[in-house]
Amino acid sequence: MTTSMAPQTHLPEKKALNWAELGFSYQPTEYRFRAIHKDGHWSEGELITSDMISVHEGAPALHYAQQCFEGLKAQTAPDGRVLLFRPTLNAERMRQAAGRLLMPEVPEALFIRGVEEAVRANYAWIPPHGSGASLYIRPMLIGVGQNLGLKTAKEFEFRVFVSPVGPYYKSAGLAVISLAVSDLDRAAPSGTGNYKIGANYAGGLLATRMAQDLGANEALFLDARERRYIDEAGSANIVVAMKDGRFVTPASTAVLPSVTRRSIMTLAEQEMGLTIEHRAIDLRAEIANFEEVAACGTAAVISPVGRIYVDGQWHRFYGNGELAGPVMQKLYGLLVGIQRGELTDKNNWTHNVSL
Ligand code: PLP
Ligand code: COI
Repeated sequence: MTTSMAPQTHLPEKKALNWAELGFSYQPTEYRFRAIHKDGHWSEGELITSDMISVHEGAPALHYAQQCFEGLKAQTAPDGRVLLFRPTLNAERMRQAAGRLLMPEVPEALFIRGVEEAVRANYAWIPPHGSGASLYIRPMLIGVGQNLGLKTAKEFEFRVFVSPVGPYYKSAGLAVISLAVSDLDRAAPSGTGNYKIGANYAGGLLATRMAQDLGANEALFLDARERRYIDEAGSANIVVAMKDGRFVTPASTAVLPSVTRRSIMTLAEQEMGLTIEHRAIDLRAEIANFEEVAACGTAAVISPVGRIYVDGQWHRFYGNGELAGPVMQKLYGLLVGIQRGELTDKNNWTHNVSL
């Protein structure tokens, strides 16, 4: 576990929020971090108070979706330390997205400093330990400045804002959710599905709406080439505990390399002794072997999937689709326990934000 001094008494009072009642929505906080890339260089970066961004009407971020973003959380440990979870993986993923979209990379040191400064400056908004809430951190990189033709921006803004949040799906803790297989594709095999870029999400809005019209929480996307193998949900990766005891996640070039999923796979093997597999999952051929399914991500954490709607009918998993099964419950406890500094962090995943 990361060790450091417990926070000192100079820290500001926490805001009087009803932390346990928070949902996943934007709550304004005082500060955000901003750095500008211009003439080939990043500015030092600074904390600012305005939650607005003024950009040129021709900005490539607005027209051609030259932008990418990240999502991670800060949580308060029992001793008051503020912990990030594997933030260098978010920094790395943003660098990859930047490269794919011909944007300048945000160096890891700038990314981490931006995240730490935004978290520290908004200390009063970090939910206390035991509240069940966390501070969601949204780093973003956008192409700004005057432009018209399809070309890369000349200026870029890296911004990090934060917002205290509760659960992504309505009920707290282990909410059991449902998915509906989408008739729309999210990402092509050699497209941009494996990058965290806004362009992947706008097209998913209608898919989510259609899934919700069917009574599901979210869309489940299949591979775009054959419409056969599981890719991922609209805002989360998928993991499956098979009836034969194996713990499987889809191998696909079109899904986001989720930090949460990579961590869960490690925990499933290391702490639970499960045989893990990263391979294509043929949904229709294998669904009868699914014991437990979950959607996983920073926002979704581990959300057990009770039911999936496929070809006009619902398929139910553990507990007739109503209950969180033991594998996902155990993994949830392990993951969240590490993220909140309650369990020993054997893999050194948590990152202490000095206060
Ligand atoms: N897949 C998609 C499409 C997402 O938006 C997210 C959220 O970040 C994830 C998966 C989960 O990734 P992570 O665990 O890194 O948050
Ligand atoms: C996250 O889990 O951090 C995400 O970015 C998902 C988003 C669609 C809310």
